Amino acid sequence: MTGFSADWLALREEADHAARNEELGFQVASHLASHECPLILDLGCGTGSNLRALAPLLGLKQHWHLIDLDAGLLAHAKAQLRAWADYAEVVHNGLVLYWGEQQITVDFSQTYIDKDLPILFNKIPQLITAAAFFDLVSEQWIANFAQQLVQHSTAFYTVLTYDGEEQWHPPYPEDRTVLAAFHRHQGLDKSFGPAAGPRATTCLQQAFSQGGYEVTTAPSPWHLNAQDHPELMLALGQGIGEAAAHFAPSDAIHNWTDALHYRRHAVIGHLDLFARPLAG
Ligand SMILES: C[S@@+](CC[C@H](N)C(=O)[O-])C[C@H]1O[C@@H](n2cnc3c(N)ncnc32)[C@H](O)[C@@H]1O
Repeated sequence: MTGFSADWLALREEADHAARNEELGFQVASHLASHECPLILDLGCGTGSNLRALAPLLGLKQHWHLIDLDAGLLAHAKAQLRAWADYAEVVHNGLVLYWGEQQITVDFSQTYIDKDLPILFNKIPQLITAAAFFDLVSEQWIANFAQQLVQHSTAFYTVLTYDGEEQWHPPYPEDRTVLAAFHRHQGLDKSFGPAAGPRATTCLQQAFSQGGYEVTTAPSPWHLNAQDHPELMLALGQGIGEAAAHFAPSDAIHNWTDALHYRRHAVIGHLDLFARPLAG
């Protein structure tokens, strides 16, 4: 289990949507524009935040397939997407959402994504996407994944992949120790082999470039301040502290977690990436 709660995903959604690189979103929309109703797979969809951010940029008809291992999060996704849409119809395996002039068909699948990728290709999607997911997977998994997408000429778009850059203000003496310990934790196996963590975007870039894709990356950092995002900063800092506690001395963790109440702002680095097959 990965232990991402619906509360945590709700807390971060506004900051996630504000941070996404706009230009890359437009490139994805332009790539899909020639498809009347593109099929889009969202890996590790959580409560559906990625759909709520991306679907408004795309065409009038879309078909999304939302995949997550966590049945509870998928139930939240269904409820939150119904609430988000202007109007929603319940169909046998999902929903048809009406949002402005758009009609968005959504299927949900509780799937434990591991090495068994072909299950993702029962029907070839035009786009595979993910948000805040790819730092969990391993370098080997990325290489295999990219190879399969290249075989099917499927485009790939992932956002908000942690890149290892963090600045907390004001700084505290324990920052380096805690960040180094947090990065060791990032590399632990999250069920895909040793996780790529902050190296994930570089691995994706290499794998898709080798497959002949055109790859664009762009920064999508969170800029958080204590006035606008007090709960998110605290929850994020506590999560980092808990993860770092596996590898850092307890007094360093204690001091660092205490200091969270005095931090004024934080910049947390993420990268977005769009990889598309070259035409012809
Ligand atoms: C950080 S959350 C991101 C959720 C969502 N994409 C968002 O941006 O709000 C990572 C998600 O990946 C899912 N996940 C992690 N490992 C998975 C696996 N092996 N198979 C399927 N889903 C997985 C988790 O359940 C969680 O919903």
